[in-house]
Amino acid sequence: MKKMKLPKIPVRRAVLALAPYNAPEEGRARKLRLDFNENTVGCSPAVLRALSRMTAQQMAIYPEYQATTKRLARFFGVRPEEIHLTNGIDDALHLIADTFINSGDRVLIAEPTFDMYRFFSELAGARITTLRYDDEMKFPVADVLDELRRSSSAKPRVLFIANPNNPTGTLVQPKDLRRILRAASQTLVLVDEAYFDFSGFTILPWIRQYSNLLVARTFSKAAGLAALRLGCLFAKPEILSAMRRACSPYPVNTAALVAAEASIRDARFLRNYKREVLQSRALLEKGLKRLGARIYPSEANFVLADFGPRAHRLVLALERKGILVRERKDFPRAGFMRISAGTRDDTRRLLRAIKEIL
Ligand SMILES: Cc1ncc(COP(=O)(O)O)c(C=O)c1O
Repeated sequence: MKKMKLPKIPVRRAVLALAPYNAPEEGRARKLRLDFNENTVGCSPAVLRALSRMTAQQMAIYPEYQATTKRLARFFGVRPEEIHLTNGIDDALHLIADTFINSGDRVLIAEPTFDMYRFFSELAGARITTLRYDDEMKFPVADVLDELRRSSSAKPRVLFIANPNNPTGTLVQPKDLRRILRAASQTLVLVDEAYFDFSGFTILPWIRQYSNLLVARTFSKAAGLAALRLGCLFAKPEILSAMRRACSPYPVNTAALVAAEASIRDARFLRNYKREVLQSRALLEKGLKRLGARIYPSEANFVLADFGPRAHRLVLALERKGILVRERKDFPRAGFMRISAGTRDDTRRLLRAIKEIL
């Protein structure tokens, strides 16, 4: 890695120690984007119409949240005090760290998972306890329970769970989530449901039962609004009001609010896109197996495939054909690729390309 040139003003130790997050290369718009689990067709046309009706006055006024928060709360089946809007889930993670993690606190993460849990925890100066998904890509329930039951001074402050998990695509079962939430007597548990639209499984109603549960959702995936950055956090009002104390006054912009409202009004678009992705995912799993990869059955809009020693060359050759997939080199060994499921046509194009290359 290139050595960082340091400014004269001392930089926080936690920042110097951070492994930087590798954002995707730019110029992806004209390629087949199967690398970041985005919606590949774009958002609902109703969203574009709503954005085009925005006025110069709206642009000049700082965002106002109450009306949209109420409508989104109704859409998600919660009360307005039980939802907090963020600038994507990324921003929600930052806010969780700012509100709950002191330097030196312990944070529990099962890897491989979404990199930003580690990133924001390390930025806050947390000590990370890393557990591993097993060889079948199952969540390490027993190890997590052991960690949560340690003596009170060693208990983790926060536990992050992506459900379904990125990049494994696997879900933690409801009975295990209940055991974890009961054992997490002094630990905040974030259940990140970024891929809920594809799994159809949620524990959102449980926020009324567990005072240590935070659930996150995003408009970046199925709704196709990744560019506008809108996430939602759900929890008991006392958790969210503590977080609002640590939050900047205008984390979400007005265009994102307008887009989210138009998006939830167009239920048909979302239903159709989800149906298309589920069919495409089935095609992708079948096709990858036929091409000799080991795959892990997924509940999300992507599939993790083990191509072994062929993976790296394959990723580069696909890129030359204008098809982007994500290589994951950080597993127990190299050879894994995470491939998003877009439309069935996207999947057919990808499978044809892999066949040609191999
Ligand atoms: C599990 C998970 N959570 C959150 C995100 C990011 O969501 P957002 O775009 O709302 O910041 C991703 C993106 O890949 C993800 O995989």
